[in-house]
Amino acid sequence: MPQLGVNLDHVATLRQARYRREANPTTGSAAAPGASPFSLAEPDPVRAVQDAELGGADVITLHLREDRRHVNDRDVELVREVARVPLNLEMAATDEMVAIALRIRPAMCTLVPEGRMEVTTEGGLDVHAQRDRLRQIVARLVGGGIAVSAFIDPEEKQVRASAQAGFQACELHTGPYALAFAQANADDRAPVFRAALSRLVRSGAACLEEGMRLNAGHALNYANVGPVGMIPDLWQLHIGHSIVSRAVFVGLREAIAQMKLAMFSGGATLDDLEL
Ligand code: PXP
Repeated sequence: MPQLGVNLDHVATLRQARYRREANPTTGSAAAPGASPFSLAEPDPVRAVQDAELGGADVITLHLREDRRHVNDRDVELVREVARVPLNLEMAATDEMVAIALRIRPAMCTLVPEGRMEVTTEGGLDVHAQRDRLRQIVARLVGGGIAVSAFIDPEEKQVRASAQAGFQACELHTGPYALAFAQANADDRAPVFRAALSRLVRSGAACLEEGMRLNAGHALNYANVGPVGMIPDLWQLHIGHSIVSRAVFVGLREAIAQMKLAMFSGGATLDDLEL
C-alpha cells in the first residue's frame, strides 16, 4: 500500500482566516508591540503534527507559498523540528525557496508551479520547457541531501524531462483524474474515468521505467482515491483538503485513519477494472 503524505496547509488556512497578520485574536490585526507572534493563533499546524502521526501519516507535507497565504516560515521550521515522520516541502523553483530548503533540510522538496491568483496549485510544473534551469535547482537541493520530486501533469513528455533534469521522484497531478471521476459520477466503466486513470497508469509506468519513485496527488478525496491507490508501485499519495475537511467533523486522527482505509482498495487491482 502507498504511504500517505498528509498536507497540513489548510490547518494554517483556518488560522489565517482570523489571524491574518500576527496575534490580535479579536481583530486579526498585527500584534501589540512585544507580543509573541502566533502564540495565541489557532489552529496551529505545528500542533496538528502529532495527531497526524497518531492517525497514520507517513509523511507531513507543507506548501510554503511565495505569498505566505497559509503556511509561513515559522510553521515550516517548527514542523521540521517536531515531526517524527519525514517532511515534504512543496515549493516553487525559486532562489528564495531553495535557500529556505537548504537551511531547513526537509527529507523531500516537491517542486510545483505557483501562480499568485490561483486558489490552489493548478497545472503541473512544465519541466519539459525549463529542463536546464530545473536541472540546476535540483542539483543544488540534492547536493544538500534533499530528495526532489516534480509535480507534473501525467504526460510522458514531462516524465522523461523530469528524469533528464535529475528528479528522483514524480508526483503525478491527479486533478484531471478527480474531475473525470466527478464527471463520470463515480462510474468506473465511464470512458472519461477510464481515460484519466489510464493516463496516470501509463505515466506512472514511464516514471518507474526511468528509475524514479512514483507519487500522486491533488484533489483526491475519500470517494475517488481507491483506484489511484491501485496503481502499481506507487510510493506516496499526497492529500490535504479532503482530510482537513473531514477532520472538522471527526478530528484529524480519525480523518487520516479513514483515508488510509479508503486508499486500500480491499485487494482489488487494476486488472479487476480491465482498463
Ligand atoms: N500535491 C501537490 C503538489 C499540491 O500542490 C497539493 C495542494 O497543495 C496537494 C498535493 C494536495 O492537494 P489537495 O489539498 O487537493 O489534497
